Amino acid sequence: MSQPYHIPVLLNEVIESLCIKPDGIYVDCTFGGGGHAKAILGLLGSKGKLLAFDQDDDSKKNLPDDKRLNFIPQNFRHLKRFLRLNNITEVDGIIADLGVSSHQFDEAERGFSIRYNAEMDMRMDQRQSLTAFDVVNTYTEQQLHKIFEQYGEVTNAKTLARKIVEVRNTTSLKTINGFKNALREIVKGNPNKYFAQVFQALRIEVNDEYGALKELLQQIPSLLKPGGRAAIITFHSLEDRLVKNFFRKGSFDETEENPFFNNEALKELKIITKKPILPGDKERKQNPRSGSAKLRVAEKT
Ligand SMILES: C[S@@+](CC[C@H](N)C(=O)[O-])C[C@H]1O[C@@H](n2cnc3c(N)ncnc32)[C@H](O)[C@@H]1O
Repeated sequence: MSQPYHIPVLLNEVIESLCIKPDGIYVDCTFGGGGHAKAILGLLGSKGKLLAFDQDDDSKKNLPDDKRLNFIPQNFRHLKRFLRLNNITEVDGIIADLGVSSHQFDEAERGFSIRYNAEMDMRMDQRQSLTAFDVVNTYTEQQLHKIFEQYGEVTNAKTLARKIVEVRNTTSLKTINGFKNALREIVKGNPNKYFAQVFQALRIEVNDEYGALKELLQQIPSLLKPGGRAAIITFHSLEDRLVKNFFRKGSFDETEENPFFNNEALKELKIITKKPILPGDKERKQNPRSGSAKLRVAEKT
């Protein structure tokens, strides 16, 4: 049997939290295999609308033939702009299920997975020029150190960055195997776990995942109708912290606890999930990739 494109995570929880109105307008920022999108369409009536974004051309093959659905093959960081192009200024709900799809991981030549040998690519959007190869071959030691430390929580990020800069003039880091072999001697602990963290960091950088997430979050308050909801699924702590802080305080800053702090977004969003919603045991067992998922929901006041 062929692999499913992607199994939607926290599907019921997302759908319940969005409180879908049959004639509402919804946005799925991360269409992927269309699992969440299809469930939303299932609850929309003939006047309802769903706008779905995905920057990966491969996701188009999952589009159902449905007049209520409008697919926008763009980065969700341009959400407002593309909604406006479709004459939409306000919506009833927004979902984003962040990161990469199983399809992207499982397609060897996309270069996301340490399980295969392929070129160091890792672009979700293949129209973009920056690849993982460019990152490891052109970034400075300091830049690489920061990426591995912040985005991968790699224990010896500094040593790793130094080693990459040392070997890259004499050793080809073009392929995944070439990259792994060149760094074999500095691996700490379990090599699969180690390289998974290194690859996570490179992927986040190549796709500017945090930059795009921040821009998306900043557009949410002004796009939601009063009572409209945003549901965001994250897969690692730094990402979750951005969503948590923004939903709570309207800012990304950890230290901004000033009671006199006045921010429009703060007044505009009410947090619905004081604690994040996590997958239950059954979902974790059926879909191990759901393991680190966290869902946070906010409502426009
Ligand atoms: C985890 S999958 C979503 C799966 C989907 N919810 C489903 O049920 O099949 C994430 C998808 O979002 C896309 N994506 C990630 N970041 C994006 C961004 N900044 N802009 C547009 N699409 C993005 C990826 O290409 C991928 O297809």
